[in-house]
Amino acid sequence: MLKYKNNLLFIDDVSVFDAAVKVGTPFYIYGKKKLLENYKALDGAFSKAKHIICYAVKANENPHILKILAEKGCGVDIVSVGELNLAVSCGINPKKIVFAGVGKTDDEITEALKKDILMFNVESVPELFRIDKIAKSLGKIARISFRVNPDINAKTHPHITTGLPHNKFGLCFEEAFEGYLLAKELKNIKIVGLHLHIGSQITDKDSFELASKKVSGYIKKLSAAKIKLRYIDMGGGLGIKYNDEKIITPAEYAKAVMSNLPKNHTIILEPGRFIVGDTGILVTKIIYIKKTSKKNFLIVDAGMNDLVRPAIYGAYHDIIPVALREGEKHNWDIAGPICESSDIFAKDRQMPKVSEGDCLAILCTGAYGYSMSSNYNMRPRPAEVLVEGKKWRVIRCREKL
Ligand code: LLP
Repeated sequence: MLKYKNNLLFIDDVSVFDAAVKVGTPFYIYGKKKLLENYKALDGAFSKAKHIICYAVKANENPHILKILAEKGCGVDIVSVGELNLAVSCGINPKKIVFAGVGKTDDEITEALKKDILMFNVESVPELFRIDKIAKSLGKIARISFRVNPDINAKTHPHITTGLPHNKFGLCFEEAFEGYLLAKELKNIKIVGLHLHIGSQITDKDSFELASKKVSGYIKKLSAAKIKLRYIDMGGGLGIKYNDEKIITPAEYAKAVMSNLPKNHTIILEPGRFIVGDTGILVTKIIYIKKTSKKNFLIVDAGMNDLVRPAIYGAYHDIIPVALREGEKHNWDIAGPICESSDIFAKDRQMPKVSEGDCLAILCTGAYGYSMSSNYNMRPRPAEVLVEGKKWRVIRCREKL
């Protein structure tokens, strides 16, 4: 998606520098072409199986991005009523909405039942009873899956692994089995599926294969207890290349996920990062070049309130100049203006020559970038821009003070 033309960074046919001059910094800028390519690649990889792609809204909830995906027939994975209402208003078919989360409130359950979503991914027995009770009061039948916690170490960052016994998500196989037996007896509940999500930014194919194997054995056990499923929701988690990771291709992923699954079910996938991660960059300007006896800093106008991943996960993001200059390379700590020592985007990072006022692009920030942004230090959130071929437009205005 990114290339330099005459030393200026372009997304497809749009100069990032031109957009920066008009929009001001910091801002996120996304490429529609790449977004569609990612969606198509994943959808195509599963073409042999009945499947629904339920994009994880939390990765990037810009309405224009959701509308593009809705037009392609994409569904969504949601975790709040905010995401539910947004998705439906953007044209996502409620019959393709799955609802996860350990803390669904009564209001959220009510709204999801009224909108007749595809299914609740239930994370505890008390939640099951709550859904049944609310469904009864509304005269509805709630379709449900249990989220199982398959005890798989997906070898990712400890903060984003979710499939281990000590994680708060889902229920272990045995407890979920008890849950299914209880659910069978509830009048306003219809069991339709099984859900799992083993973590995020997974680059280890074997973890997906193991999940698929464990699920297939479990489905046999459920079937023996006369619990029949229509949907197997394998969650999200497919990793992307931020640095030097060896990533799994969509074809390898599809093979691993489907390797052991029975053929007569509809597979649901909940990719977030894979769909949007590499479609976006965060553009920021160097405000000061600060050289001290110990360290050299590029102080930029984006902060951890705009992009929190480096601060909270130590996440690596490539950073490149928007306009290349001739000259020597230097090493820099690239820091934001927030009053926290962790407000650092890169440490000792070698960069081509840069000057005050230059723009930098922080790469692969389409997922969990804007969606995790905040107003910390009373900073307005940045603008968002979408590139469509030769054109670009603001798809969310910069917040005003
Ligand atoms: N499904 C469920 C139930 C999830 O909890 C998540 C992400 C996804 C799908 C999408 O996962 P993905 O395909 O994007 O890996 N803020 C962290 C990532 C947290 C992911 C939370 N759950 C980060 O910036 O790396």
